[in-house]
Amino acid sequence: MPILAFPKETLKGEMRCALLPANIKAYKLLGVDVIVESGLGNGIHITDEQFVQAGAQVIDSRKALLQAADVVLGIHKLAESELPSCRPNTLLISYLDPFNAADYLASLCQHKLTSISMEMIPRISRCQKMDALSSQASLAGYVMVAKAMFALQSVLPMMMTPAGTLKPAKVFVIGAGVAGLQAIATAKRLGAAVTAFDTRAVVAEQVQSLGAKFLQIDLGDTGQTNQGYAQSLTAEQIQKQQAGQAKCIAESDIVITTAQLFGRKPPLLIDAATIAKMKPGSVIVDMAAENGGNVVGSVAGEVVSVNGVTLIGTGNWANEVAKDASQMYTSNLFNLFSEFYNSDNASINIDLQDEILNACVITHQGEIVNPTIVSHFNQEVA
Ligand code: NAI
Repeated sequence: MPILAFPKETLKGEMRCALLPANIKAYKLLGVDVIVESGLGNGIHITDEQFVQAGAQVIDSRKALLQAADVVLGIHKLAESELPSCRPNTLLISYLDPFNAADYLASLCQHKLTSISMEMIPRISRCQKMDALSSQASLAGYVMVAKAMFALQSVLPMMMTPAGTLKPAKVFVIGAGVAGLQAIATAKRLGAAVTAFDTRAVVAEQVQSLGAKFLQIDLGDTGQTNQGYAQSLTAEQIQKQQAGQAKCIAESDIVITTAQLFGRKPPLLIDAATIAKMKPGSVIVDMAAENGGNVVGSVAGEVVSVNGVTLIGTGNWANEVAKDASQMYTSNLFNLFSEFYNSDNASINIDLQDEILNACVITHQGEIVNPTIVSHFNQEVA
C-alpha cells in the first residue's frame, strides 16, 4: 500500500497543517496508508493522539518519515537539505514557488523526485476544488481587513449615537481578484464605504455587486491572460493608474493592495509622495510585501509607520486563521490527490498529457517538465 507522509511545517510561525484527522478516513478509503510527523497539528491544537485515533501512524523521526514515503504532502516545500532523505520517484506535493526556485528544482531533478506545485493548479472549472491559491487568498482578504481594522483608531461603520455621529471609514481596495473581492465583502459587512480598482475591467461588475464603487481609470488596453490573470502594464499605464487613484488614496482611511502578476514581481503602485498625502493614522495593508510589494516602504513580515501612516506587510495572511485555512488547504490537497490516484494499480499516473498535471507537475524523472517553468527559465537565460 502506498504511504502518504505529512511532515510538520517548519516555516517560522506557521500554524497550518496539510492534514486533519477528518481527512484520514477518506485517504484510507482510497487504499493508502497515512503517516504523520509528531506535532503536525500543534499549531491548531490537534494532538498526535487524535491523528492516531483517526487511523494514522505518528512518527517522531522526520528523516524516517521521509524515507518511508511514496508521497510527501505539505504546505511549504521541504528544505533542500532534506531532499536526499526521500527515495527516488517519491512524489512531493506542496507550494514550491517554482518561478523563484531554480536551484531547488535542480536539486529535485538530481534526486529524481517528482514534484507538484500547488501554485500551478490551473484556473479551470475542474480544478476549483483543488485551487489552494484561491482558498488561501480568500481568507487573506478577510484577514487583511481585520488587521487594518485593529490598526485604525476609528470604527468602520457609521454610528449614530447621542454623543454624535461617527462617519463610516473609507476603504480602498486595489486589485479585485480573489483576495480583493473578499476584502471588499468583509469591509462592506463591517459597514465601511468601499471603493475598488482593478486593471481587468471585467471585475467592475463583481465589485459593484458587492455594494462597492469601482474607480474608473482609463488605462487603454489592459486585457487578461486566458487563465484570468492580469497582464503587466506599461510604464505609462502605471503612471496613469497612480495619478488616477491618488485622490482616492489620500481620502481613504484604509488602503488594501492585492495587485499581483502571476509568476512575476507585483507592480509598485503607491509611492512615498502618495503616502505623504494620506491622513496620519491611516492604514495601508500590502498583501504583496513578501514578494516585493505594491507599496514603497512596506517591509515584509513587519508593521512600520511612515509619516504617521501604518504600513502592514506581515504576510502569510491565511496563517492568522490557521484552523479554517488548514481545513480548506487539506481539502484542496485531498481533491487533487484523489483525482489522480488510481486504486486499481495503487499509484498516481503522472500523465503529462492531462491538462491539470501538465500545468502543475514541475519535475519528473530527473527533468523540469513544466512548459511554463521551462519557458520562464529559458527567457531568464536569453
Ligand atoms: P492575482 O492574485 O494574480 O491578482 C490579484 C488581482 O490583482 C487580480 O484581480 C489582478 O487583475 C489585479 N491586478 C494586477 N495588476 C494590477 C494593477 N496594476 N492594479 C490593480 N489591480 C491589479 O489573481 P487572483 O486573485 O488569484 O485571480 C484573478 C482572477 O482569476 C479572478 O478574479 C478570477 O477571474 C480568476 N480565477 C478563476 C478561477 C477558476 O476559474 N477556477 C479560480 C480563481 C481565480
